[in-house]
Amino acid sequence: MSETKILLSESEIPKHWYNILPDMPTPPAPPLHPGTGKPLGPDDLKAIFPMSLIEQEMSPEREIAIPDEVREIYALWRPSPLFRAKRLERALKTPARIYYKYEGNSPAGSHKPNTAVPQAYYNKDAGIRRIATETGAGQWGSAMSLACQMFGLECTVYMVKVSYEQKPYRRSMMATWGAEVIASPSNRTNAGRAILAAHPDSTGSLGAAISEAVEDAATRQDTNYALGSVLNHVLLHQTVIGLETKAQLAKIGEKADVLVACVGGGSNFGGFTFPFVRDKAHGDRVRIVAVEPKACPTLTRGSYSYDYGDVAKLTPMMLMYTLGHDFMPASIHAGGLRYHGDSPLVSQLVHEGVVEAIAYHQNPVFDAAVTFARAEGIIPAPESAHAIKGAMDEAVRAREAGEARVIVFNLTGHGHFDMAAYDNYFSKKLEDFELPQGDIDDALKNLPKTGA
Ligand SMILES: Cc1ncc(COP(=O)(O)O)c(C=O)c1O
Repeated sequence: MSETKILLSESEIPKHWYNILPDMPTPPAPPLHPGTGKPLGPDDLKAIFPMSLIEQEMSPEREIAIPDEVREIYALWRPSPLFRAKRLERALKTPARIYYKYEGNSPAGSHKPNTAVPQAYYNKDAGIRRIATETGAGQWGSAMSLACQMFGLECTVYMVKVSYEQKPYRRSMMATWGAEVIASPSNRTNAGRAILAAHPDSTGSLGAAISEAVEDAATRQDTNYALGSVLNHVLLHQTVIGLETKAQLAKIGEKADVLVACVGGGSNFGGFTFPFVRDKAHGDRVRIVAVEPKACPTLTRGSYSYDYGDVAKLTPMMLMYTLGHDFMPASIHAGGLRYHGDSPLVSQLVHEGVVEAIAYHQNPVFDAAVTFARAEGIIPAPESAHAIKGAMDEAVRAREAGEARVIVFNLTGHGHFDMAAYDNYFSKKLEDFELPQGDIDDALKNLPKTGA
């Protein structure tokens, strides 16, 4: 019988992260300063990031060594297992071989600690005492709280209000690891107060929470900011996922025909797929599919333009797919996929045709999540269920074509804190929200004019 779990030993935890920058098909467009509109230099980011992370953000090196202190903490849950989804294959009656990389066994329950831990490490190393950050669904905030606790840093998390109210136990988790959690928009920052003045009932957005955390960090000497997605160094840290997956597939003599991952800001997608994108550049025919929600269709309906990463226009402008920095997504349950923009690297790969992008409504995504849970046991996070739906559709197409394709997807986290969303699904309360074109057109009217 073939193995169900393909495992690596701790000595096989990657020793380097893979930096895709030197291997991008064309050189990435530079981020621009939010005030001057000029290309950003390392010094422009010094107020909120340590220099080691700024260097990683722009590094031309293909491999960047993972510090021993970080590998030691990674060893608490890494290498993560690659599963063969045999029971799902049977349920779908597909000749395809389906594999999933499972990141839900980290202490915080998702892939997010893969970058939270090195970010805390480099900040501690730079003499920083406190981290301010934001969280959408609570996964990133949990991961950063955990990582700060491990390196003795204080942590303040601005949590998007709708999640703060929907997910009280995510808050308790962050408190257990010693973090302070604030519902965003809040009265703690100018950005938060401005949003509340204009929209007193605002349920918040990731873009708004980022503004609050960046302002907090920029106005305090002892505090830096940490971002859980989008930026190059975050995707870099997440490449441990793809590097391990490659080693696991090689161990059993398999080669992926299609890779599928969900996209919020692009970190798990980039981390999982970039080591394979490199092979694709060298002639490999693997297809790479990004999945997002139809309620926040950044890659499938957004504009490929320079835009800010946050509502208050405090962050640099990046060339990416965007729905506009003041876009307020509907309160769908995949909270971690409600971001107006996307990683510039992932956006560029979609724009240049290396990566395909698709979008689903939340009811079919929950259908897939429940089918998966009943076959494989693991109850997935709603974000991860987007990748499951994408992989299942690929498996059905393989059945229709009568081809034993190898489908590999990234299962980013478990859904144990998302059971209220499952309840809403079971009681048929989930809406499939189709974003009106007028809303997108309105939000895109406020894109910055950069001349690019
Ligand atoms: C479980 C899970 N999967 C996926 C995502 C999407 O983030 P990213 O696109 O950065 O991987 C999130 C974000 O919070 C998440 O919590």
